Amino acid sequence: MLEGKHIVVGVCGGIAAYKVADLVSKLCQAGALVDVVLTEHAEQFVSALTFSALSQRPVYTNLWEPTGEAAARHIALGQAADLLLIAPATANTIARLAHGLADDMLTTVALAITAPLLIAPAMESQMYQHPATQANLRLLAERGATIIAPESGRLASGEVGQGRLPETPTLLAQIRWTLGRATGDLVGRRVVVTAGGTREPIDPVRYIGNHSSGLMGFALAEEARDRGAETLVIAGAVSAPMPPGVEVIRVETTLELRDATLAALADADALVMAAAVADYRVEHPAAHKIKKGSAEENGDGSLTLRLTQNPDILAEAQALAEANGLTGLTRVGFAAETHDVERNAAAKLRRKGLHLLVANDVSQPASGFGVSTNQVSLFYADGRVERLPLLPKTEVARIIWDRLAPLLSERSADKVKR
Ligand SMILES: Cc1cc2nc3c(=O)[nH]c(=O)nc-3n(C[C@H](O)[C@H](O)[C@H](O)COP(=O)(O)O)c2cc1C
Repeated sequence: MLEGKHIVVGVCGGIAAYKVADLVSKLCQAGALVDVVLTEHAEQFVSALTFSALSQRPVYTNLWEPTGEAAARHIALGQAADLLLIAPATANTIARLAHGLADDMLTTVALAITAPLLIAPAMESQMYQHPATQANLRLLAERGATIIAPESGRLASGEVGQGRLPETPTLLAQIRWTLGRATGDLVGRRVVVTAGGTREPIDPVRYIGNHSSGLMGFALAEEARDRGAETLVIAGAVSAPMPPGVEVIRVETTLELRDATLAALADADALVMAAAVADYRVEHPAAHKIKKGSAEENGDGSLTLRLTQNPDILAEAQALAEANGLTGLTRVGFAAETHDVERNAAAKLRRKGLHLLVANDVSQPASGFGVSTNQVSLFYADGRVERLPLLPKTEVARIIWDRLAPLLSERSADKVKR
């Protein structure tokens, strides 16, 4: 997604300037062309050499340098860039940008640029909260800039408050999302991805769960987001961090996941059911913690839990679509199998009338729950099967959306209406 993108990174004189070296490194590793512009005061914190070594390109600091290179480049940079990120954005530079000043290389480039502008303020919380800074940020947002809110935590002064520059993954996610919204092949689409495992209560402290980490679902959500889709994640129990830049609804049980999913289909183009949903739930969860020797026990000290079948969410989604005579919802299922993977997967695809079924053999050590790789086969409605090698889940997600994007009908086409 970042391959060949031209990103200009503006660095100001804030204590968080050193963190941006890591960001520039990650952007370059992802295949982006990165031009770095430092303010004069940024050079008090980090050296141009650090950034030119990472980006393998000249770093611009001084509009007035005698060769005239920077002066010539400020308009060209603005025209060539796919995105300008200013991080850390100091209170001072935010004020200069808000008032259209162009007194150095960075502010001059910022005025010349037509690509999206991302601003990541980082400063002591009093400076951030100051009405002048807040008014300047509002003005910039009104003009179309995206403000990446600073995080709360321990600041350089030792105080705790809002003002920290978000970590590299959050900044990268914002960049990917912004580029996706401009040029991605899922722009205008709304997709719903379920992720993680469900928990079925036995009593107030115990549950029946599964090993799902949420990694595959989150990879699918992040890929959809980066291609420009408006993305909703319905997440059960997960151990992976929540993906930034997507809407998240948290659920616990299969019934909650069902309700949230069906409610979200009203204007969705695709439903990707990557969550590991419990087939059964405890019929009557105990209202109090079950103790040894309690009335719930059988006479011989054993305990019997009666399980009842959970609803089939994909089947209900299909019924909802059919009841409304609509074809606008692309439905994707996942099958985590331990044996007879292909036979079970093909049967599930037919039974549930899916457009695509992603099957993985979770008995393989490097594939399935809790690991960052997956070996899957894609089963299509027309009977085709595509067997993929063992790949990072991010790569599996990319391939799935490559296949799905052409399947999605226009957003203006029929949608499930409830
Ligand atoms: C040690 C030190 C740390 C600073 N950290 C920040 C900061 O995190 N955020 C900020 O807005 N200003 C910070 N400042 C103040 C800016 O460096 C100052 O406003 C400067 O004029 C900003 O210039 P620039 O916006 O052109 O980079 C700091 C100053 C010093 C001396």
